[in-house]
Amino acid sequence: MQVKTMREDYGKLDKVEMSIWECCELLNDVVDDSDPDLDEPQIEHLLQTAEAIRKDYPDEDWLHLTGLIHDLGKVLLHPSFGGLPQWAVVGDTFPLGCAFDESIVHHKYFEYNSDSKNSTYSTKNGIYSEGCGLDNVMISWGHDDYMYLVAKENGTTLPPAALFIIRYHSFYPLHKSGAYKHLMSEDDVENLKWLKIFNKYDLYSKSKVRIDVEKVKPYYLSLIEKVSTTLVRKLGV
Ligand SMILES: [Fe+2]
Ligand SMILES: [Fe+2]
Repeated sequence: MQVKTMREDYGKLDKVEMSIWECCELLNDVVDDSDPDLDEPQIEHLLQTAEAIRKDYPDEDWLHLTGLIHDLGKVLLHPSFGGLPQWAVVGDTFPLGCAFDESIVHHKYFEYNSDSKNSTYSTKNGIYSEGCGLDNVMISWGHDDYMYLVAKENGTTLPPAALFIIRYHSFYPLHKSGAYKHLMSEDDVENLKWLKIFNKYDLYSKSKVRIDVEKVKPYYLSLIEKVSTTLVRKLGV
């Protein structure tokens, strides 16, 4: 299946509805092969991230909720969501239609991607223009973009910075290596500040701090209630 087709198919959001909490629990059934230091249930990772943020930023409840839901797109790995292969769901993301930056993980394998030999796609700006904004850039498909679509299309009330975090948290070439900044808009620059804060918790929360799920559940249910009870939908497969 082509990347574009996958995005179109899953972008329909037209099959099943489920609550955010149900989705968190469903995620426990999937394993992310790209995540070598994550040997705990996914719900622990979600809550560890959210709780660590909550401790340091007690007033930013939108960021707590972002921590809880940022990886829910990984349900694409689950058989009930079509069981997409790992390469289509997890791992770093990167722009298409312009040069593959050397900071992208396993960069050497782009040699086998015909885009790297295309006279337009292999240039710095490619099909884009300087400062066009990441909104206008096609990013490789994965759990980030899927969850972003689900949140946006369901009319979430989360702020733009939350959607930015959800959409680009696997875009390591940007937020870790500083690549592709020339494509960013002024809004992107502002939102990137929050993504950099978030990323510390996404990584360092993967410690052995155990979370009492039942104890914190009421708090997160109250946050979920604020944005939507049916944020996560099963997609057309
Ligand atoms: Fe993720
Ligand atoms: Fe994560």
